[in-house]
Amino acid sequence: MDVSERDNSAIPVITVDGPTASGKGTVAHRVADALEFHYLDSGALYRLTALASARHGIAPDDADALSVLAETLDVRFGEQRVWLSGEDVTDAIRAEAIGNRASAIAVHGAVRRALLALQHSFRKAPGLVADGRDMGTVVFPDAVLKVFLTASVQARAQRRYKQLIEKGFSANIDSLLLDLQERDARDRTRAEAPLRPAEGARVLDTSGMTADQAVAQVLEWFSQAQYPQGA
Ligand code: DC
Repeated sequence: MDVSERDNSAIPVITVDGPTASGKGTVAHRVADALEFHYLDSGALYRLTALASARHGIAPDDADALSVLAETLDVRFGEQRVWLSGEDVTDAIRAEAIGNRASAIAVHGAVRRALLALQHSFRKAPGLVADGRDMGTVVFPDAVLKVFLTASVQARAQRRYKQLIEKGFSANIDSLLLDLQERDARDRTRAEAPLRPAEGARVLDTSGMTADQAVAQVLEWFSQAQYPQGA
């Protein structure tokens, strides 16, 4: 049977939520590849809104203008790249300043609601792996498997430092640590869709783990969720 866009509740979703640099992007992407599922990087949508707002001179506290912008974003995702109004902004949205701005605009309920339909449109057969902060709690509450990745703030700052150095950027571990702590505090304490494990989420601390180990664990949980013992 053809599952229409309206009734796509039978399409399995795996949610991977967690704080900045917890490894969720890498893990979610690789799980999606292994299962040949679609992949949603919801943080990219907040980053795209942040970039567009900076370019249009919209202040991070102007919730009304930001939500109109979020609702009318002209975005296209392709092979590991993303375009905003036809321009390739894959690298531009990864800047630390845009990540911080994304976290600041993500506090507005109106902005979050404006991005909901776009996020739901990623749920397509044969399945979806969605990564973010509120994938399991708000956007896909009926997900078949909900994972919450954590890692110590030191491990996350080290990872982010390594990524930046590998890309040829200069970086300072102390200021990265402070940045991560500030962003986490804001994401966890905001009133709208705060970062927290969804009910029933499997929590995985990746501090001492390789990406391979984390991916293997999520795949094992998924097969258990699909084929529970005794079912
Ligand atoms: O995952 P990321 O670092 O690309 O996300 C950037 C910011 O966007 C993050 O600090 C908070 C916000 N965000 C959110 O509020 N909800 C999501 N589902 C994803 C990201």
